[in-house]
Amino acid sequence: MRKYILSLFILIIFSCKNNKNSYYLNSPDGEIKLEFNLKNGVPLYKISKNDNLIIDYSKLGIILNGKTDLDKDFKIINTNRKTHNTSWKTLFGEQKEIINNYNELEVILDQENKKLNITFRVFDDGIGFRYKIENQENINDYNIVDEKTEFKLSKNDTAWWIPAFSYRRYEFLYAKTPIDDISKNIYSKEVEDIRYDTLGIDAAHTPLTIKKENGIFISIHEADLNDYSSMTLAPLGNGLIEAELYPWSDGIKVKSDEKIISPWRTIQISDNSSDLLDSNLILNLNDDPDSLEDFSWVKPGKYMGIWWEMIGTNESTWWPSDNHGANTKKVLEYIDFASENGFEGLLVEGWNKGWHPEWCCSGDGKKFSFTETQPDFDIDKIYKYGKEKNVYLVGHHETGGQIENYEDQLENAFKFYNKYGIKNIKTGYVNDVSKNIKRKNKKGEIVKEWHHGQYMIRHFRKVIQLAAKYKLNIITHEPIKDTGIRRKYPNYISREGAKGQEFNGFSSNGVNHASILPFTRLLSGPMDYTPGVFKLNNFRYVTPGSNTIDKNAIIPSTIAKELALYVVYYSPMQMAADLPKHYQNHPDAFEFIKKVPVVWEKKKIINSKIGEYVTIVRKDLNSEDWYLGSITNENERYFNISLDFLNENKKYLATIYSDTKNTNWKKNQMEYSIKSIEVNKNSNLDLFLAKGGGGAVQFKEIVD
Ligand code: NOJ
Repeated sequence: MRKYILSLFILIIFSCKNNKNSYYLNSPDGEIKLEFNLKNGVPLYKISKNDNLIIDYSKLGIILNGKTDLDKDFKIINTNRKTHNTSWKTLFGEQKEIINNYNELEVILDQENKKLNITFRVFDDGIGFRYKIENQENINDYNIVDEKTEFKLSKNDTAWWIPAFSYRRYEFLYAKTPIDDISKNIYSKEVEDIRYDTLGIDAAHTPLTIKKENGIFISIHEADLNDYSSMTLAPLGNGLIEAELYPWSDGIKVKSDEKIISPWRTIQISDNSSDLLDSNLILNLNDDPDSLEDFSWVKPGKYMGIWWEMIGTNESTWWPSDNHGANTKKVLEYIDFASENGFEGLLVEGWNKGWHPEWCCSGDGKKFSFTETQPDFDIDKIYKYGKEKNVYLVGHHETGGQIENYEDQLENAFKFYNKYGIKNIKTGYVNDVSKNIKRKNKKGEIVKEWHHGQYMIRHFRKVIQLAAKYKLNIITHEPIKDTGIRRKYPNYISREGAKGQEFNGFSSNGVNHASILPFTRLLSGPMDYTPGVFKLNNFRYVTPGSNTIDKNAIIPSTIAKELALYVVYYSPMQMAADLPKHYQNHPDAFEFIKKVPVVWEKKKIINSKIGEYVTIVRKDLNSEDWYLGSITNENERYFNISLDFLNENKKYLATIYSDTKNTNWKKNQMEYSIKSIEVNKNSNLDLFLAKGGGGAVQFKEIVD
C-alpha cells in the first residue's frame, strides 16, 4: 500500500505541466524546484529552493557549425521522466558510500526535424543538466561553435572567482566581487594586474562559488567533462552569466564527427557554506569504471620529495649543477628518512634529461626526455635500495606544455617506470603564456591551443587511460579541473589546479587564501596542495648554493595549521612537503603527519565561513579513529566544539596540536602546543586558533 501511495505521489509530481509549456521537476526532498519552459520556441529553465529564487528564466541551446542554431524555434515532441534512488561504494574517497537520489526529466525538442535532447536531474543538493544531439539525418556537421547556456542570477549576488582565459591557468588568488564585476580589469585592480593578458574574454573558471543576496550558496560547475571544451562563465550584465567554451585555434569550440553528449552543467545549492562541502552531486553525475576495468591496484598513500628544496628553499636545482637535487646520494638519504617514518613514496624531480635553467615557462626550449636519466641519478641502484626499504619513487614528468613531445614518448615512459616499481607519477604542464600549447595541425603548421580547450582535455584523458593500462596513478599539476572523472578513472588520484603551497615557496598566497580553497577549488575534488611545511620563515636561500637567506620570504601559516590542512584538504595522495631536516626539528608535530589517514569513511563540517574559517572532522576508513582540522584566516578564534560526532559508548584519547597564545602567522609561526586528554561523545573541545593559524586533533579510540 505504501508503495502504491508513493508511486501515485511520484506520478503526480512527474505529470506536473501547465498549459504554458512548463514542466516541473522537484528534488526528492521537495525543496528544490526546476521549471523547464518553452517560450516562443526558446528553451528556458528556472530554479528555486523553498520559494527562494536561485536561477531566474535562463536560455539553453547549442549552435552547430554551418548555421544549425539549436536554441530557438523548437517544439517539444516528447518528455521522459524517471526517479532514481540507490547508493554506491567508492573505491576510496571522502566517504565510503554515496547516496545517489534524484528525479529526472528528459525533454526532446524538435526544430524542423532537427532534435536536441536536454536531460535534467534534480537532487537534494542541486541540479545537473546536459545536452544530447543524437546522430540524425538532418544534421551533417556536429562541430559546436557556441553553447548558449545561461545562468540568470541577481546583480547583487557575490562571487569568489579566478579569471579564465589568462596566462597562469587556475593558479590565481580569488577575487570576491559582485558577479557583474567578473573582468580582467576589476581583477587587476583588486588582486593581480593581468590587463596585458588580452587574449580571450572576461570570464571566470568553475567551480564558481556564489553567495546569493537571499543568503543561499551555490556553486556552478560541470560534471563528466570528457571530450568537450571546458566551460567558463562570462558575465553579460545585470546578473546574467553565460557559458563560454574555450575555442580551438581554428575557432571551433567542440570538434565532433558524430553525436554529442555535453558534460553536465551543475548548480550545487545549499543554505549555508558548510553544506556546500557535503555535496556529492558532481561524483553522482559521473560513471563508474567500465565493468571490465579493475582498479583495485590503486593505492592511496603519502609521499615525500626532493622538491621543496628546489621550489621552496631554493637550495637545489632541477637541472645539472653543483647543487643538483636529484643525485643518487641524496635520494638514498631521503629513502632512509621516508622509510623510517612510514612513507611509501618519494618524488624526485629533475631526474631526467631536458632540464636547464630556462626550462620554465613559455613552452619553448629543450625537449624533456622521459626515459633518460641524468648521469648522477642511478635509477637501478635507487630502485633496488628503495625496494628493500619499501619506498618507491613517485615518478615525475614535467612536459613544459610540450604535448606532442610527451605523447610521442608516453608509452615508453610508462614502460620505463613500470620497470622501476613506480606506482604514481606527478605530471606538470608549466607554460605560462595564454593560448600557448603548440601542436601541428593537419597541414603541418604549428598552431596554438588554450590549456583548457578540447585538445588538452583529450590529452589528459589519453594520459589517464594509458596510465591505467600500466597500473599507474597520475597526480597532475597545471591540470584540467576535476569534474568527477576520478570516479571512472580512480587512478586520476589527485591534482593541483589552484595556487597551492608551492606559490608560498617562491612568492606568497597571503594569509586568507587557504580558507577560500575549500569552498572553491576543493569543491571539484581532491587537491595536491602539498601541505606540511614546518620551516615557515628564514627558509629560502637567495640562490642555490648561497649561504644568504631571503629574510622576506615567509609562509603565511603556522605549524598547527599545516597539520590541520591534512584533514581540511582531501587528497588520497598527500605529500609531506618539507625537508627531512625541518621535520627532525619538530618530531612531535611530525607524528601527526605520519598518523593522519588519507581516505575516509565519512566527514562532518563543524563550522565554516568562506575565506574566514573552516573546521572539518573525518572518520578514518580503517579504524574507529576520528581526525579534526580547523583553519582560520588573519583573525584569531576560539572554538568550543561539541564532540557529538564520536561513536557511542567509546572513549578516545584526543591529541590536540594547536597554536599557542603567542603564535602568529607573521611573527611567530612555529610555536605550538601538544596535549592529550580523554574524551567521549559528550565532551566539548576548546580550540584556540592564532592569527593565520589552525589546529589538528587525533581522536584515538581507547580500547580497554
Ligand atoms: C610546476 C609544478 O606545479 C611544480 O610542483 C613542479 O615542481 C614544477 N612545475 C616543475 O615540474
